[in-house]
Amino acid sequence: MRKPLIAGNWKMNNTLFQARELINSLRRELIDFEDADILICPPFTALSDANDLLIESNIKLGAQNLYWQEKGAFTGEVSPLMLKDIGCSYVIIGHSERRNIFSETNQDVNRKTKAALSAELTPIICVGEVLDEREAGKTIEVVKKQLEESLADLDEEQILKSVIAYEPVWAIGTGKTATPQQAQEVHKFIRTWLKDKYCIDVSQQIRILYGGSVKPSNIKDLMSEDDVDGGLVGGASLDSASFVEIVKNSV
Ligand code: PGA
Repeated sequence: MRKPLIAGNWKMNNTLFQARELINSLRRELIDFEDADILICPPFTALSDANDLLIESNIKLGAQNLYWQEKGAFTGEVSPLMLKDIGCSYVIIGHSERRNIFSETNQDVNRKTKAALSAELTPIICVGEVLDEREAGKTIEVVKKQLEESLADLDEEQILKSVIAYEPVWAIGTGKTATPQQAQEVHKFIRTWLKDKYCIDVSQQIRILYGGSVKPSNIKDLMSEDDVDGGLVGGASLDSASFVEIVKNSV
């Protein structure tokens, strides 16, 4: 049985003061909640404070990106080791905003995934189609290529330590959620792809999150689908009450 995972992707939001307020509120509201894994991914600037505030908490800490090198002359980048050191256990990789705004390729995603795993960080590897691709009936083709190239050369042990997020780009920040059936269709494809590449056991253990306008009002229906194991939540993770409700409605 896969334990649900609800991850908040704060993106480029929240000053330290706002981050502290939000984390304190989440801690208070979710203190005894054990039925789903809960994760927040603040911007780099808030990670250290977040780690201090989350000590002995059931809320885990993640980052939104990393660079694949261990250290060196890479101005502006952050290494896997630095994230581990600051208390992260997860990292989002290949989010569509990284792919589309910062031109990250599947090959970059693959390098970053391997670097995260080497540092014992759990990568949340994002895939998903843009609207034109969906309308042209190319969703499965696009997601398949992203999976093949982003997960290239990962062995069974590595894939078992990873999480996949399906995020249709047309649903991100638009208020337009995929229907549970649309999400399930792609999630099922991803699980079948994992079964074919690895084996049934592996495919049954890996968590596949849905992301794209997840809200308190739609998480239940999304989670009722067989292959949806949680949510990657953007906008609604910035408000304590709505994130708490999403977490509670996910089980
Ligand atoms: P959204 O973002 O919930 O604001 O649509 C999701 C994401 O980009 O991870």
